[in-house]
Amino acid sequence: MGGVTPVHKISLAVLISGRGSNLQSIIDACRIDNFPAEIKIVISNIEDAYGLVRAQNFNIPIRVVSHKGCSSKAEFEQRILSILDEFKIDLVCLAGFMRILSPTLIAPWEGRIINIHPSLLPKHKGLHTHERALEDGDTESGCTIHYVTSGVDEGDIILQKSVAILPDDTPDALAARVLEQEHIAYPEAIRLIASTLPKST
Ligand code: GRF
Repeated sequence: MGGVTPVHKISLAVLISGRGSNLQSIIDACRIDNFPAEIKIVISNIEDAYGLVRAQNFNIPIRVVSHKGCSSKAEFEQRILSILDEFKIDLVCLAGFMRILSPTLIAPWEGRIINIHPSLLPKHKGLHTHERALEDGDTESGCTIHYVTSGVDEGDIILQKSVAILPDDTPDALAARVLEQEHIAYPEAIRLIASTLPKST
């Protein structure tokens, strides 16, 4: 007798707008046997986001919800909410999703929606984080995985990874160094919080 009890896998939706390298790190993690999550759907607001190709390469279902094709932000978010319901999602992962969400979407998912941000929050909320870290003469930067709330980049921090800022750093060089840590951080954060979520039926 015996055998290994299969790990309970929570169902993820990953929301993207672009190249999807963080999505790829989650796809790769989900291919590991004992990783406690699987991606059920990738949603993009941009039709030709490269991340959609990454999902299709692994036979992960995709949906495009173009904000431009919706008459209001509420309609855009309602359409995403319907997809999250349809795929019985447990945890929503924003991974380079470039739309600011309102309470229409965030409120029903509070505590079950997370984001990655390329700075050591609370420093450098918003865009152009690497430029600002260099301009401010910071000696370190990094990335943050945090819960999403209606305050942009303000929810509770799940985990952070830091990198040193080097004397001759450029925004691109720093971004690349931070991105390597992002790809480690996102799967680690999912693993961390998977055990805290109620199991879906
Ligand atoms: C990442 O730097 C992420 O932190 C930020 O947007 C970028 C998305 O990159 N929110 P990718 O699409 O995952 O490659």
